[in-house]
Amino acid sequence: MSAYAAVCDNLRAAPKTWLVTGAAGFIGCNLVEALLNLDQRVIGLDNFATGHQRNLDQVRESVGEAQWKNFRFIRGDIRKLEDCQAACKGVDYALHQAALGSVPRSLEDPLATHAANNTGFLHMLVAARDAGVARFVYAASSSTYGDHPGLPKVEDIIGKPLSPYAVTKYVNELYADVFGRSYGTQSIGLRYFNIFGRRQDPNGAYAAVVPKWVASMIKDEPVYINGDGETSRDFCYIDNVIQANLLAATTANPAAVNQVYNVAVGDRTTLNDLFEAIRSNLAQRYAHLQDFKPTYRDFRKGDVRHSLADITKARTLLGYEPSHRIREGLREAMDWYVAHLG
Ligand SMILES: NC(=O)c1ccc[n+]([C@@H]2O[C@H](COP(=O)([O-])OP(=O)(O)OC[C@H]3O[C@@H](n4cnc5c(N)ncnc54)[C@H](O)[C@@H]3O)[C@@H](O)[C@H]2O)c1
Repeated sequence: MSAYAAVCDNLRAAPKTWLVTGAAGFIGCNLVEALLNLDQRVIGLDNFATGHQRNLDQVRESVGEAQWKNFRFIRGDIRKLEDCQAACKGVDYALHQAALGSVPRSLEDPLATHAANNTGFLHMLVAARDAGVARFVYAASSSTYGDHPGLPKVEDIIGKPLSPYAVTKYVNELYADVFGRSYGTQSIGLRYFNIFGRRQDPNGAYAAVVPKWVASMIKDEPVYINGDGETSRDFCYIDNVIQANLLAATTANPAAVNQVYNVAVGDRTTLNDLFEAIRSNLAQRYAHLQDFKPTYRDFRKGDVRHSLADITKARTLLGYEPSHRIREGLREAMDWYVAHLG
């Protein structure tokens, strides 16, 4: 039996109380759904800065009313310590996802990114520590590798951050580490690479590439590739992220705690490859995509050229084994997008 299957069995047998911050966002709402499906008690915290009520509505519909009764939502803001304190009461495991994502957003408004991602993060750490939360798992980021050219990315070799967003995510790791040394807080940071999947927002200036391109292709609108398209990423499906969070929250391996891990697949996909994978998938359903071509434009400021993870550490210490590679993930995600955007 895989480490993840064993964790799911154990949780079903002995349900815990979880806090998911950013519960109305893409990753947060998927974590809520997975936990409710495992009969867990879940508290969600969100201020709807970038999250949506519709995500929570879809989770409710998918898990059913009986499981939904185990969910309590707090509309609150991590920039307020008292909201974090209210959310952490009685919690066994915290999965801290709330933050303002996006490199370009952080370049345009570094103060807003700092307030949510650093002040908010520190509030959550203090509140979790004071409430006796057993494990604090948080969303870190591959942007922490910054300008280091080495590939694949290994956790303890990082470069200089290339954006205010990357600074905030690295500061999270530093705070979590210091809380471990100073107060015995048990934390695990998950450096997400490019995550995609159901309920990821396709709209807005800061939308992630997969849902944005899918939505544009379905509507026959231009798809822009920043640069020559040979920029590469390690695209990771949401189910792998759910697995990593549950393994991190529950690991009994002392060597695994107070560490950061890459959460990815270990595959390199260029933007040109991604375009073609999405186009060919959608072309089976939309005739106008048979000869659809992207529009190339300038490289985007703050973007790293290549990103590819070494996932050995998560494999070895957490028992992480990605269930979906990019093509399997795209297939599942596409079904969802077609059903909801098509
Ligand atoms: N999606 C990715 O590829 C990716 C990659 C690396 C890291 N991450 C990190 O993963 C986490 C989740 O990202 P996501 O893709 O689900 O983004 P998202 O924008 O869909 O979700 C973030 C959620 O946090 C909420 N939030 C923001 N500020 C808040 C505040 N002050 N108080 C309470 N809630 C607040 C938003 O309303 C939103 O629901 C973030 O920490 C992000 O930095 C994501």
